[in-house]
Amino acid sequence: MKVIMLGAPGAGKGTQAKKIAAKYNIPHISTGDIFRENIKGETQLGLKAKVYMDQGLLVPDELVLELIVDRFKAPDCKDGYVLDGFPRTIPQAKALDAALVKNNDRIEFAIDVYVADEVIIDRMAGRRACLDCGRTYHVDTLKPKVEGICDYCNTKLVLRDDDKPETVKMRLEVYHEQTQPLLDYYKEKGILYSVDGTGAIDDIYEEIIQVLMA
Ligand code: AP5
Ligand code: MG
Repeated sequence: MKVIMLGAPGAGKGTQAKKIAAKYNIPHISTGDIFRENIKGETQLGLKAKVYMDQGLLVPDELVLELIVDRFKAPDCKDGYVLDGFPRTIPQAKALDAALVKNNDRIEFAIDVYVADEVIIDRMAGRRACLDCGRTYHVDTLKPKVEGICDYCNTKLVLRDDDKPETVKMRLEVYHEQTQPLLDYYKEKGILYSVDGTGAIDDIYEEIIQVLMA
């Protein structure tokens, strides 16, 4: 099963991608999480990416492709994967297709989680992230068992640097301009499925599972 999660920043891609990956026992690959791990580890890639991420801008395609291209070759990808936050531009989508076609392969589902911009700005202010395992929580809608601590790895939860309201506004602008065109790209391929991302997390998940099982 090869799935792409589309949607604006804060639409809930990561939240749903983790649940799908657990159900189908396939990896959840988030380029944002990989960049954040690199920033934490102060790698060359991390230092370069941070400059863009902190401003709410996309990391240049070359850096993203350098990072992701070998990931699909790992043994854990043999039964598929859920891609979260990649592709994010038309050139990235074309590069992904080109890499897959070489192996006679293709993406089967592009799931767009749709949430209006106003809802997103509120959500991001309440999001708390674990920078160790990438899980996200919310101070009202998805609380950890112990306040401020990740349920899975006991790490202290933080407000992401790019979740400040002014940066979120820039990320939304960038999304509409550079990532939204992917909806038409996947629609033309006949694999785009849109779900309303404003309901309860478990209801949205059920809707996505119905799509994947159909
Ligand atoms: P990335 O980490 O991918 O960030 P993003 O797309 O901006 O998305 P988020 O992770 O912020 O949101 P999400 O949709 O995963 O929502 P979540 O599930 O956490 O990328 C960060 C940066 O890295 C980019 O800005 C860019 O600079 C760079 N980058 C990454 N990939 C790149 C690429 N391919 N090309 C170029 N640059 C790249 O949910 C959000 C919150 O809402 C949480 O608190 C959650 O608990 C809560 N929530 C979720 N669902 C619901 C619900 N149904 N109801 C109520 N609350 C909910
Ligand atoms: Mg995410």
